[in-house]
Amino acid sequence: MTVSLPDAPWWASAVVYQVYPRSFADSDGDGIGDLRGIASKLDHLELLGVDVIWLSPVYPSPQDDAGYDISDYQGIDPTFGTLDDFDALLADVHARGMKLVMDLVVNHTSDEHPWFVESRSSQDHPKRDWYWWRPAREGMEAGQPGAEPTNWGSAFSGSAWQHDEVTGEYYLHLFSRKQPDLNWENPEVREALYAMMRWWLDRGVDGFRMDVINFISKDMAADGSLPDGDVPDGGLFGNGRPHFTCGPRIHEFLQEMHREVFAGRRSGLLTVGEMPGVTVDDAILFTDPARAEVDMVFQFEHVELDHGADKWDVRPLRLTDLKKSFGRWQLGLADVGWNSLYWDNHDAPRAVSRFGDDGEFRERSATMLATVLHLHRGTPYVYQGEELGMTGAHFERIDQYRDIESLNHFAEALEHGRATEESLLEALRASSRDNSRTPVQWDATENAGFTTGEPWIAVNPNYPEINAAEQHDNPSSVFHFYRSLITLRHAEPAVALGDFTMLMPDDEAVYAFLRRHGQTELLVLGNFSPEPRPVLISDTAAWTGAQLVLCNIDSGAVTDDSSLPELQPWEARVYRRQVG
Ligand code: GLC
Repeated sequence: MTVSLPDAPWWASAVVYQVYPRSFADSDGDGIGDLRGIASKLDHLELLGVDVIWLSPVYPSPQDDAGYDISDYQGIDPTFGTLDDFDALLADVHARGMKLVMDLVVNHTSDEHPWFVESRSSQDHPKRDWYWWRPAREGMEAGQPGAEPTNWGSAFSGSAWQHDEVTGEYYLHLFSRKQPDLNWENPEVREALYAMMRWWLDRGVDGFRMDVINFISKDMAADGSLPDGDVPDGGLFGNGRPHFTCGPRIHEFLQEMHREVFAGRRSGLLTVGEMPGVTVDDAILFTDPARAEVDMVFQFEHVELDHGADKWDVRPLRLTDLKKSFGRWQLGLADVGWNSLYWDNHDAPRAVSRFGDDGEFRERSATMLATVLHLHRGTPYVYQGEELGMTGAHFERIDQYRDIESLNHFAEALEHGRATEESLLEALRASSRDNSRTPVQWDATENAGFTTGEPWIAVNPNYPEINAAEQHDNPSSVFHFYRSLITLRHAEPAVALGDFTMLMPDDEAVYAFLRRHGQTELLVLGNFSPEPRPVLISDTAAWTGAQLVLCNIDSGAVTDDSSLPELQPWEARVYRRQVG
């Protein structure tokens, strides 16, 4: 149920829940989640109290990148159901007072999308220019090693260019070979995409989560060429990112999209742009309401702090780096713009296994991470299973993985002799996207109640202990703690709107901050360590008699405390007091 606060956008007090349909709930026993499966679990989401559901792609797709390769923007993949199933789901979501936001993947299509099939057919097809076709590098023969139009690597290993036998040219794909990039320079492409977006809004959906939307404007020279990227030490490819991240026309495109698709529509819609590499300064521009681009962005800084040379090279997270980063985003978007807040999603390994302790202190570290995140200023996103404290997959063998990024990286690194099988498996255990893609654990029956068939990816064997059915009945579960956090956001304007002040910035174990709105002040404390830690803030006395509104040790207890005792391992606390 959405709550409105005066003078604030509705999404300031909202919480979004991401459903990754393949792994959510399977209604027909084919081992893959589907729309009817989602419909059958709405009670769970309603009980949790979330306001918005973001649905990862359910469109027809060859599933090369688990649905992020779309071959028809205006349909439903038979694996997931039908348009009628979709309409029924949407109606039920609305009837329960929630909203539904679709994933919008328009940086690229599938190579099986009719637009690309036509574009590929000949050099003079009217849709040729809908994608990035380029001849071989000057003086080189198409198909020769190094003849690619630029030296860019794809996000999923290999070159970002695919030589196409049909016409002898190359097409650009920043992701897999089966995800050719659309050419947003061409106004017909933009018009076709806007028409498709209007069609979904007319159908009743409440907005879009826009996949890698800051990659749509490429750094193209007047002659149509694209620049090479710098090759990192020992790298196989050049880094194209600076040449397509927040490119020269990005703001123009998003403003045009806003005018063509959203302007004049009903209120209550949500747009969030997924933007790898976005900076605070860019984000202010993207989310300034006066510029009419998007409501908020997903930035990546905090989930890349533990990366070394790349995402496969994992380093321990320094809490002071996390505070610096979050602190900068909180400050940067304090007056203009808005933050989105997340730990987990279908691309990120689960935070409880990554930044917490998924063994002895699983529940406590999961709820501490949730408290710290949800109490920042911004709109929090919960990824399916996060509300249960589900853990990473911890797969042992390569044949357990399904994700194209992980499989390609493994194959490429082995082929070039860059790492041993053992070290690669270790890197995948830490960083693979499949860590968060194992099926939602509904109950203790076979396959965690996810499917009656063979699941498309293994269920985590810890489902007999970690599952929704057990947690629904357990008031001190991770699930009920998430409910309390969501209830608190709905009820307490200081959570949605309060100013943010970081405390103890140099402490490597305790995350502490204040939120202040009117006469209300909140103190948020989280212990990121397995040791007891003191709370070292300057005016402890001010918190004498403050109300303890949330604590993850005796969940739900609200007591009057007269001091700030040291924090237990992975403990989180939220206090409230009235000031002035
Ligand atoms: C986004 C999606 C990811 C996908 C990629 C290409 O980052 O979240 O899952 O692989 O874009 O569409």
